[in-house]
Amino acid sequence: MSSIFSYNKVDKKILYLLRSTIGDKNVSSDKEKLISYSHDEVPPSAYESEYRAEALVFPECSAHVSEIMKIASANRIPVTPRGAGTGLSGGALPAFGGIVMSFEKMNRIIELDEKNLTVTVEPGVVTSEISKLAARHDLLYAGDPCSGDASFIGGNIAENAGGNKVIKYGATGAQVLALEVVLADGTVIWFGGKRRKDVTGLDFTHLMAGSEGTLAIITKAVLKLLPLPRHSIDLLAAFQDAETAIAFVPQIIKKGGIIPASIEFMDKKALELVEKYLGNPVPASDAGAALIIQLEENDPDVLEKEYERIGTLSKENGASEVYVADTRSTKERIWQARKAIPEATSFFYNRYTKEDLAVPIDRVPELLENIKKVCLGRDLEWVAYGHAGDGNMHCTVIGPDTEDWHEVLLKVQEEIYSAVIDMGGTLSGEHGIGFKRKKFMKLFLSKDHLELIKRVKLAFDPDNILNPGKLVEWNE
Ligand code: MLT
Ligand code: ZN
Repeated sequence: MSSIFSYNKVDKKILYLLRSTIGDKNVSSDKEKLISYSHDEVPPSAYESEYRAEALVFPECSAHVSEIMKIASANRIPVTPRGAGTGLSGGALPAFGGIVMSFEKMNRIIELDEKNLTVTVEPGVVTSEISKLAARHDLLYAGDPCSGDASFIGGNIAENAGGNKVIKYGATGAQVLALEVVLADGTVIWFGGKRRKDVTGLDFTHLMAGSEGTLAIITKAVLKLLPLPRHSIDLLAAFQDAETAIAFVPQIIKKGGIIPASIEFMDKKALELVEKYLGNPVPASDAGAALIIQLEENDPDVLEKEYERIGTLSKENGASEVYVADTRSTKERIWQARKAIPEATSFFYNRYTKEDLAVPIDRVPELLENIKKVCLGRDLEWVAYGHAGDGNMHCTVIGPDTEDWHEVLLKVQEEIYSAVIDMGGTLSGEHGIGFKRKKFMKLFLSKDHLELIKRVKLAFDPDNILNPGKLVEWNE
């Protein structure tokens, strides 16, 4: 083991130090709790070993985070920051034990500034709470990950979470104006501010977005708000097959002349699974594939013209049926179906690999074709769904019911990845690398690129105590 991975254990002395610094109620070494805070949404069956935190801390403010980091760095204890545990790459897994830092007590919305169109929050605020508060002020927080009703904003920023509205508004990082962070040695520092332009120095604010808790710990965030679009409509277009649905996606923008808020894709298997899981009829569940196209406007007449135009275009491009959801309940039915796909998949299957590939949008048909070829070649099932508008597809390949399912899925991944690389695609569009995908980084990034990531990491965290074992391999 290289020296940057030699850590001390959390012993009685460390627990005493933590308790006397941030209070007894904010520290736990309870065995049951340690287990439940030692994983995210990646099923433990994905790994060959078990990983456990040695202590949990629940800071109430930035000063607590700073004190914890001072103790951790003085004693060389690894610290894994954790949001709501909804991550999909093992980012919150304590790969080297040590301290897991949960942000559930740092859950205040500090300020909504209507003049500057910003909201300032702590990392433990549930993402949808920000959207709801903004909406009460006729404002939009545009970050919209599928897990938004549960995930914390700190985790969204650390992963640069994407979701359903990236095509129009960008991913979470694009919503961030400023961050207060705590460095590995306990220093508290602000990057950015409530300004829309800033080229003073390096853009560390956006370096933090997607750094997966490996560079610094986010303790406050200033997020951008926009005027809330007054009207929206969701179209659910049913197609006979995935190819026809996907081929239509670039036309929506080019010929439709608008950027929808969302263009989401569900294949036949996804539609079937979700209907079975929800136990309710799902519109278009007998189709070969479906697209959800969400349109937003302030003027209802303009919106009506747009949805008529997109509806006609859909029919001209092979849609067999177009359902229009313009009431709260019809919209909820469509989105409930889309958002329940991951849950439905993990409900019905134990052995799978959920992929998060992103390719240039004109290559999505080729990506789906490739997945089909690889899976059919091995007699495996798969579920494909995702953010068709930005080329980010979640393809879940179901493992065979055999002892060697891990190896089979690994081969499947390697075959799919090699095709994705040829298409100019990437390993993860929004779920992150974390622990789960780091072994594949060398396929996608050059040696020089990986070296640079390590140098940046060590510039921020020379003792490698912040979320070690993530993002890149170091010959641990
Ligand atoms: C989604 O798009 O549904 C989310 O990224 C979650 C997932 O794929 O599991
Ligand atoms: Zn997604």
